[in-house]
Parts: sequence; structure tokens; C-alpha cells
Amino acid sequence: MALPTPTAIPSRHPDCCLSFSSTLLDILTSTLRESIHSGLVLSVGSGTGLLEALLHSKWASSPNSQNEQPWIEGVEVLQSTSSASSFATRYLPEQCCETVKGTWEVSSRAEHAAAILFVYPRSPELVRRYMQKFAHPSSRLQAVIWLGPNCDWPEIQPCLAHGEGWLPVHVLLGAEAGLVDFEMMAIIRRPQEMP
Ligand SMILES: C[S@@+](CC[C@H](N)C(=O)[O-])C[C@H]1O[C@@H](n2cnc3c(N)ncnc32)[C@H](O)[C@@H]1O
Repeated sequence: MALPTPTAIPSRHPDCCLSFSSTLLDILTSTLRESIHSGLVLSVGSGTGLLEALLHSKWASSPNSQNEQPWIEGVEVLQSTSSASSFATRYLPEQCCETVKGTWEVSSRAEHAAAILFVYPRSPELVRRYMQKFAHPSSRLQAVIWLGPNCDWPEIQPCLAHGEGWLPVHVLLGAEAGLVDFEMMAIIRRPQEMP
């Protein structure tokens, strides 16, 4: 499906809960490249996959070779053929789409993820479950990024509690993150190892 072209001004699109802009894509790209260099970015609750497809397309057209940059997969709840959900994945290539059987389920792909994205997750409990399962010291997870409306942050913040070995949450509000003024980005990551 044809992708819209983001501009520097954050705008809304009917197929994505989050506003997006070229600035947002640049910030997500640089944050992910700095924290994980390469590796799997798993977007949990990717909906139509529009934001993820914009990142996929940006990274595919980058001069870096495939091994030197992250790649993205979206996870969505498996749709029955009878339920024509407005969130059915339609922008991401099939090889970038994972499914879970129900809203309670945590994707096993997260075991392989270097970073997890949560974009407007409906359930703070889902965020908590991913953090409890995958943010332990021996996991390969290096970064978690939550994007959503400011009003959801008080409920989400405790779910992102991550324990030992993680840096404090870094928050970017509205335009700082390339978003409209009532949305924000929260980033938590592990410190980089010195070469
Ligand atoms: C509010 S929508 C956000 C969709 C998309 N991120 C966006 O910004 O447009 C939340 C999505 O999370 C999905 N979801 C709910 N539970 C999930 C789970 N356990 N794993 C993956 N996706 C889930 C829903 O199907 C829904 O598409």
C-alpha cells in the first residue's frame, strides 16, 4: 500500500493513532541506531503498520548495509476472517508481521528483540508484562520506546519500571519528539558498553 510522505510538521493520518512527521522518524532512527546499532525492533500492537512501514522504508533506502541497521517487525492480534478490524495490518510486508492469538499474549519474538516499541498500546498491563518478561539483566533488550498521549503517561510510567542496569527514562514532549502537542515519547535504555 502506498505510504504517505511525512513532512516536518506533525500530522495525523486515519490509519495511525500517533501523529507523525519526518522529525519523529529521524528521532526514532537515531535513538534506535545509537542504542542497538542493528537488531530486531519489535513494535507491539502495530495496528495497520503505517508507522512501522515508514521506518522500514526509511531504513531500506539508507546507505547503511542491512547488517548495520535495525529492522522492524510488527506484532498484532490475529484477526479472524469475520472480524474486519480497522487495525488490520496493511502497510508492512508480510515477512515483518507477527501475530499473537489474543490481547493477553506476549509475543515470543520479543526474546530476540534488541528494542521494543509501544505505540498507543491500549493496555498498560501489556507493557508491564513485556517489561517483566524481557527487561531482565541477561536479556538482549537494549531499549524500550513508548509513544502515546501525555494523559496516558501516569498509568504507563510505573509499567516501564525496569530495575537494575537501565538508565532513567528520557521523555520528549510534543514538538521535541516531532509529535503534536498532546503526545510524547518515553525512552528507556541500557547504558552503552565502552568499546
Ligand atoms: C490503539 S491500537 C494502536 C495501533 C497502532 N499502534 C497505532 O498507533 O495506530 C492498539 C493495538 O494493539 C493491539 N493489541 C492488543 N493487544 C495486543 C497484544 N497482546 N499483542 C499485540 N498487539 C496487541 C490491538 O489489536 C490494536 O491494534
